[in-house]
Amino acid sequence: MKMIVYSCSAEERPLFARYAGQFGAELTLLAEKPVLENAHLAAGMDAVNILSATCITPEILDVYKTCGVRMVVSRTVGVEHVDTAYANSIGIAVGNAPYSPASVADYAIMMMLMVLRCIKPMLLRYAGQDYTPRGYLGRELPNMTVGILGLGRIGETTARHLQGFGCRVLAYDRREKPALRGVAEQADLDTVYRESDILSLHLAAAPETYHFIDSAAIAKMKDGAVLINTARGTLVDNAALIDALERGKLSGAGLDVFDGDRPIYYRDFKNQVLAQRDMAVLSAMPNVLMLPHMAYYTDQAAEDMVRNSLDGAARYLAGQEDPWLIGEMV
Ligand code: COI
Repeated sequence: MKMIVYSCSAEERPLFARYAGQFGAELTLLAEKPVLENAHLAAGMDAVNILSATCITPEILDVYKTCGVRMVVSRTVGVEHVDTAYANSIGIAVGNAPYSPASVADYAIMMMLMVLRCIKPMLLRYAGQDYTPRGYLGRELPNMTVGILGLGRIGETTARHLQGFGCRVLAYDRREKPALRGVAEQADLDTVYRESDILSLHLAAAPETYHFIDSAAIAKMKDGAVLINTARGTLVDNAALIDALERGKLSGAGLDVFDGDRPIYYRDFKNQVLAQRDMAVLSAMPNVLMLPHMAYYTDQAAEDMVRNSLDGAARYLAGQEDPWLIGEMV
C-alpha cells in the first residue's frame, strides 16, 4: 500500500521505518499538517495517515478522492476532526488507531494526585526558593470517591488502575460493562455526580457530549469536587467551570484539554498575545493544573499509534476486516 503520512514527527520517523516492511507500506513522511494546500500530495496514494491538529473537511476529502485515496487513517483514538460521514459518502473509509490506554489513564490519575497535593502552587513556591509547605495541606486519594464518565478502554483502565489506590470508584456509561463488576460501581449519572469527590472525563467528543459538564451538571456535583479532563475540551463549558471554581463549588481541576485549545496546542506562542481568555483565567488559578493535551504522549502509545495505523489500513486495503474502521461506508 502507498501511504502519505502527515504531521510526522522526528520521534515517529524511526517507528514508521521499523513497521513499514511488516505491513507492506511504501511511505511518504511529511512533517506538515494536512491542509487543503498540501492535499494534492496524496496523488497516487492508497491511504492518508493523519493526526488531529487540523480538520479533514469535505474540500480536503474531495482532493484526496481525485488523488485516488481509499482510506484516511488517524493515528488517534478520537476522530471528530475527520468528516467521516462525508468521507464515507464519497467512498473513502476512515479508521483510527487505538493505543495504550494506560498512557491517558495514568496521566489522569497523576492529575488527580497533583491537584489533591497542590503540586502546581508548590512547584512555583519552590522555584522562588520558598521551601515551606504550609497552606498546601494535601488530600489523600484513598479517602476519595472517584467518578469516571465513559467506560471505553481509557475509562476502564483508569478504573482498574485506581484499584491500587484503595479509593471507591463509581462509573457511568450509557451501557453497563459487566467486565467491570468488582472494579467500579456502575451507577446512574446523578449518583456519580452526587457522590464523587473527583470526576474524571473519558467521553468521546460528539454533538451529544458537547458541554456535557455545564452549570446544570456542576450543580449536581458534590461541593468541593475536583474535575479532571484528559478527553476533549468541548466536553466542558468553560464559563460554567470558571464560575464553579470562583465560587468554590469545585476545589480544583486538572485540564489536559479545554474548549478552545485546538488552535493553540502543539504550537509555540512564546512572547505572543493569545486570545484564549478562558484559558488565561483558568491557568491563573492556583488550583487548576493545565497541560497541552499530552496525556497520550508516551513511548508505548507512539509505537502503538504508528503500528496500528499501518495495520488497520493494510487490512482494510487488502479487503480484510479492519477492527478500527469508523463510520459506515455507503
Ligand atoms: C486521541 O488519540 O484522541 C488524542 O486525544 C491524542 C491525539 C491528540 C494525538
